Amino acid sequence: MRLQAIVYPASGSVHLCPATVVAENVLSSRKIRRANSCHHDAGFCNTLRLYADQTARIFIDSRRSISPIDRNLFGSFLEHLGRAIYDGIYDPGSKLSDSNGFRKDVMQEIKQLGVPIIRYPGGNFVSGYNWLDGVGPKQDRPRVLDKAWNSMNTNQFGTDEYMAWCKAVGTEPLMGLNLGTGTPEQAAALVEYCNVDRGTKWSDLRRKHGYAEPYKVKHWCLGNEMDGPWQIGHMTATEYGIKAQDAARQMGYVDHSVQLIACGSSGPFMPTYLEWDREVLEQCYDYVDGLSLHRYLGNNGETGGNSSKFVAMNLTMDRQIAETLAVCDLVRGHKRSPKQLWLSFDEWNVWYRARSGDAVDGHRQEAPHLLEEIYNLEDALLVGGMLITLLRNADRVKVACLAQLINVIAPITTNANGLFRQTIYYPYSWALQYARGKVLNVMIEAPTYDVEKMDAVSYIDAIATVTDDGKTSLFILNRDLSKARQIELVWEDKPATHVLVSQVLTGDDLKAANGFDAPERVKPQAFDKPSTTNGRTRFEVPARSYTMIQWDASA
Ligand code: AHR
Repeated sequence: MRLQAIVYPASGSVHLCPATVVAENVLSSRKIRRANSCHHDAGFCNTLRLYADQTARIFIDSRRSISPIDRNLFGSFLEHLGRAIYDGIYDPGSKLSDSNGFRKDVMQEIKQLGVPIIRYPGGNFVSGYNWLDGVGPKQDRPRVLDKAWNSMNTNQFGTDEYMAWCKAVGTEPLMGLNLGTGTPEQAAALVEYCNVDRGTKWSDLRRKHGYAEPYKVKHWCLGNEMDGPWQIGHMTATEYGIKAQDAARQMGYVDHSVQLIACGSSGPFMPTYLEWDREVLEQCYDYVDGLSLHRYLGNNGETGGNSSKFVAMNLTMDRQIAETLAVCDLVRGHKRSPKQLWLSFDEWNVWYRARSGDAVDGHRQEAPHLLEEIYNLEDALLVGGMLITLLRNADRVKVACLAQLINVIAPITTNANGLFRQTIYYPYSWALQYARGKVLNVMIEAPTYDVEKMDAVSYIDAIATVTDDGKTSLFILNRDLSKARQIELVWEDKPATHVLVSQVLTGDDLKAANGFDAPERVKPQAFDKPSTTNGRTRFEVPARSYTMIQWDASA
């Protein structure tokens, strides 16, 4: 263990911003960077000083912001996969469902969470899905073999049911399009079905089905993971880029207001990582608004089961974002385009246990138990870290989806009698509830530990947000698995003193998980409200913890 060696000359000619600290930890062993190499506004980057103690200092200044937060940063995902839709949100035979067949307890939970946008219907599923199978009279809908998950889809739940469900829970749809077996013409037809008021073939079909009002779906994903050999309809980057461009143009003719997301790389593990993104964007940059990224992290393989490394893995997501943005901006330069793309991190989570064999093979059953990952405390800590990463990059990541929402790699698990909250529910719900307004460019000066292939990792990771009416929220991940850590929060402008809420997620056992037998084994606890004196707030965060503190504006 050593102090993060960020040493600055008194001249103040060298500055650092927190994202740079992270990028620096990830990208190289050099610890000193010049202000003009920081991608945030150098004018707002403070000089850090070296303190020869073990206290972690978090410097916060409400004038130093990264970006306003787009609420869609806290979206989620529901795929026709396993028990996400059938048995999850839709279960017409259940005593817990309403007259539409929607599970009332699940709707209540999602409403309460306030999820702003939910991606649907896939995922790998979408690349073989014919949306026409899922609309119209239910008795006429075919029972179709979903080849992505070797499962049977009764099509009793389709586009119109999804729109009704979104309205009922107060969320926006993020619609996925089939660019695998599907054609650009079919993609544009779905836009017409959803968004045109009347008087055209597909809008009139929607009306005939009983839905007079257009849904006005704004965000659309042009396919899913088309770089992956596992994907139905997988193709080369250039082929996909041309197809995405064609689909985007046709969709634009139908509704020019749609926001379109092209498929980026499925992750850094892909041999075509970044090259795929570049080639795709060379074809369709001018026609799209965002590029997608996906990432699933696990405490196996790369970490070898080392939990200290596992809880640092969100830093690899910072790197993935930086690298993908570099490609977007490279292509922007090639094209001399005035437009800057944003990123849609539309699948992210911990996922590594239920990932092979029967956990991914539906054996041609309806609503099979697939990808039913059970999450433990360390997973929740990393999910907290991943949320910190997303917030830290909120200037360019405008949409992100926790994958997924119900039963399938999800924060909520159902059975016939009810539901329980998995450990990862809590950091996600805190972000939804408390991360509001704008993200602040906090600077962190903290002791570090060594992680193989990652260089020095800060024990403390953190981010802060502030609303227009002065509510400041701070999220802190303590990666030290054995020791509590002293925190000194240094308020560089107006100190906040009055704590509104203060909670911590921690425990003795990193592997502890919730279940129907013990639904509250891992849950947030009240955290002593820290006091502020002379512009500094001092407190201790427990070992293995994720903490959230919110202050209001009163002095
Ligand atoms: O979310 C589960 C699967 O993971 C999705 O279907 C696919 O897009 C990704 O590989």
